[in-house]
Amino acid sequence: MCGIFAYMNYRVPRTRKEIFETLIKGLQRLEYRGYDSAGVAIDGNNNEVKERHIQLVKKRGNVKALDEELYKQDSMDLEVEFETHFGIAHTRWATHGVPSAVNSHPQRSDKGNEFVVIHNGIITNYKDLRKFLEGAFALVFKSIHYPGEAVATRRGSPLLIGVRSKYKLSTEQIPILYRTRNIENMKNICKSRLQRLDSSTCLHAVGNKAVEFFFASDASAIIEHTNRVIFLEDDDIAAVADGKLSIHRVKRSASDDPSRAIQTLQMELQQIMKGNFSAFMQKEIFEQPESVFNTMRGRVNFETSTVLLGGLKAHLKEIRRCRRLIVIGCGTSYHAAVATRQVLEELTELPVMVELASDFLDRNTPVFRDDVCFFISQSGETADTLLALRYCKDHRALTVGITNTVGSSISRETDCGVHINAGPEVGVASTKAYTSQFISLVMFGLMMSEDRISLQDRRREIIHGLQSLPELIKEVLSLDQKIHDLALELYTQRSLLVMGRGYNYATCLEGALKIKEITYMHSEGILAGELKHGPLALIDKQMPIIMVIMKDPCFAKCQNALQQITARQGRPIILCSKDDTESSKFAYKMIELPHTVDCLQGILSVIPLQLLSFHLAVLRGYDVDFPRNLAKSVTVE
Ligand code: F6R
Repeated sequence: MCGIFAYMNYRVPRTRKEIFETLIKGLQRLEYRGYDSAGVAIDGNNNEVKERHIQLVKKRGNVKALDEELYKQDSMDLEVEFETHFGIAHTRWATHGVPSAVNSHPQRSDKGNEFVVIHNGIITNYKDLRKFLEGAFALVFKSIHYPGEAVATRRGSPLLIGVRSKYKLSTEQIPILYRTRNIENMKNICKSRLQRLDSSTCLHAVGNKAVEFFFASDASAIIEHTNRVIFLEDDDIAAVADGKLSIHRVKRSASDDPSRAIQTLQMELQQIMKGNFSAFMQKEIFEQPESVFNTMRGRVNFETSTVLLGGLKAHLKEIRRCRRLIVIGCGTSYHAAVATRQVLEELTELPVMVELASDFLDRNTPVFRDDVCFFISQSGETADTLLALRYCKDHRALTVGITNTVGSSISRETDCGVHINAGPEVGVASTKAYTSQFISLVMFGLMMSEDRISLQDRRREIIHGLQSLPELIKEVLSLDQKIHDLALELYTQRSLLVMGRGYNYATCLEGALKIKEITYMHSEGILAGELKHGPLALIDKQMPIIMVIMKDPCFAKCQNALQQITARQGRPIILCSKDDTESSKFAYKMIELPHTVDCLQGILSVIPLQLLSFHLAVLRGYDVDFPRNLAKSVTVE
């Protein structure tokens, strides 16, 4: 968890105020990763080496509180100019130690502020730390001894470096400088700066060498400054000295990539801004007509009814020969796997196991080399999913990533994969990533079944359904006011049950997750088939219950469940198909949805629940984008 951001201006004069503004803006972009305390480390007032000192400002609370605190520091002249400066900043999500100024970062070395560091991840072995440095981390160091220099490294937590200069850059590929032995302590890392760096071994700006470097946990904090970035790999150590960036590591195998490329990010700043919406989550719900279209763009040919996922093409033969598919994820990403399991079984004619990453690991699940394992993750950084991926790789299974984050650990470590192309998702509660993950998995099933004669009609039906989804999603979104009115009726309740079965069971799990995480109401997704085995005891005329009943093969069974609810004076709010005259007779309230192919209906039925959770949270007075105790990217086990 946590977000780290650092900014170096080398021969680019900046006032302290400008440096503050850059650091604070960077933290604001990363605030979704954690927001219980924040801090910065910058150079003190005197820029002379002799009297140099590092000023730390830390504050419990969100980044805004830190921003206010910075301007209260009367010891700091805001107009003082630094030709070269390195400032580091951090927003924290507490795992060990309560949120407080003292526990917040930057942390400093014992003697004065000789070294200050910002860290993302959990050093679970902190007790053994003195023996040997390991664990999960992304770190950026600033030191009083090496003014205007930076050292950064990562293992397990993401870190990238943006570079901006009006001068030409010396290279597009930064060669790795291999170290011959393990780096045992931080002193040695800093010594690496002593290595003579010439143009062929580092990145710098040609000309008067003026250059700026931005270090961050993810691209959203960098994109407003530059779209030229370098993604660090685990165990890379990046050092900047004299405006030159070099990358060091210990060689692990002959196949190690010998360089790091500068990549050009395609995302636009406006993609990560809220626009006219009151919250990122709301914006992301309303983006779904476009995001699902982007997931299919260039992949589904509606004329020929064919699907091509370029990232899987080279491995398709191998996948077709496999013994089973295992689909692994956490939270909402896991629900996307539950939602598509049935259609994957139907289209691939393979057994499909759906697994929560943490449980999969706890069980030491048997995995074989002829298994194909899918890792579903919006962020591509979720620790449990990443560990499950490494476990499956150790068992030599073929690994496939389904992620929304280019350059993320999961997308890089899998053998092949699909980018869901939903665009940046900032709201902690995942919405558009879910529908795009859903579609990506359906597209995979369609690609696998291309040559199955017996499945051609079904394939055409599904592809036709995919084509009309963006329009149907718009229709569902137009129910927003009605859903808001429903929320007005429900927002004072303590509990909310969501029930359904078959293709719509995942909708219930996902809807209940959305409700609990942002409204803090108790909510449970219930499989209607299990009603008689326990949950029926909860039903009375007070308990609010939402039922998802669609015109699909489970319709008749859902009608039974409906009867059982109404027989106990339950008052069901029913999400149903537009033409459903049967359910309407028993509904306390109804939300009518457009009809699509059974296996795609879950994409439409989840949206009213996303909207409902949003309105409930707003009415209850909560910050929708920053639910308490949660962070967007869960990079710890
Ligand atoms: C819920 C939510 C989480 C994530 C889960 C996995 O709204 O966002 O349940 O789905 O933490 O995250 P990713 O998909 O990034 O691996």
